[in-house]
Amino acid sequence: VTSERRCDWCNEPLPADARKSMVTCSKRCRQRRQRFRVDAAGATPRHGPMRFAYADPPYPGCARRYYGHREVDHGKLVLRLIREFPDGWALSTSEAALVDVLWLIPRALRPRVRIWYKGGSRRRGTTSHDADNAYEVLIIVGGRARRPGDPRLEDVLWWGGRQPTHPGALIGMKNAAFCEWMFRLLGATAEDALVDLFPGSGIVTRAWRDFVRGVKRQGAMSRLAGAGQETRRR
Ligand SMILES: C[S@@+](CC[C@H](N)C(=O)[O-])C[C@H]1O[C@@H](n2cnc3c(N)ncnc32)[C@H](O)[C@@H]1O
Ligand SMILES: [Zn+2]
Repeated sequence: VTSERRCDWCNEPLPADARKSMVTCSKRCRQRRQRFRVDAAGATPRHGPMRFAYADPPYPGCARRYYGHREVDHGKLVLRLIREFPDGWALSTSEAALVDVLWLIPRALRPRVRIWYKGGSRRRGTTSHDADNAYEVLIIVGGRARRPGDPRLEDVLWWGGRQPTHPGALIGMKNAAFCEWMFRLLGATAEDALVDLFPGSGIVTRAWRDFVRGVKRQGAMSRLAGAGQETRRR
């Protein structure tokens, strides 16, 4: 017998006799939920709430191979981001596609290029003088300006790995640390909204929910604060 309530990790119905405080269906889901760590957003300062978008399309040229979809038209996507999300947006892409994608964004919007270093070598069969290509590019446009006193935020996130235990895990999925870093790069706060245009596993939306709900879980940013780059490689 099940109840109307659903597990906060796997989304299966909770047993009908589940205590009110119970939010996950099993010990396994509880532990996985607890390991998913995103720090709370800050309060919204002047100028009120903003609305952001995150676009995580397949890398150009990879939609069919990895997802069985037709290519995402990045020109149309960037146009949509600019028109519908004037407050700011973030777009993930590959090193190989960076030149083509940046070219689509007007210089006046001052796109910033950030690096998510995931670790491990992704170069196979290429010459040995190549570097690892173990990173993904994150382009940020707009966002809320940082204020004096805001915690430091680095251009590079050294935080490898997917979250393979996440329900619906798939190739190209992000992890909690990445999500929090991206939210902070946008200057997002608890009263803002985020539209996740390519949800995949839904992990970004989950991270956003935790971020704005203010679940204190000591996310990546605070765990990284003060740590040397070396210790961040995982
Ligand atoms: C890189 S994954 C997104 C991963 C997601 N951010 C996560 O962390 O789980 C890209 C997603 O876009 C979807 N997709 C692929 N081609 C698409 C298309 N032409 N239009 C819309 N979505 C597409 C894929 O099915 C996949 O879910
Ligand atoms: Zn569950």
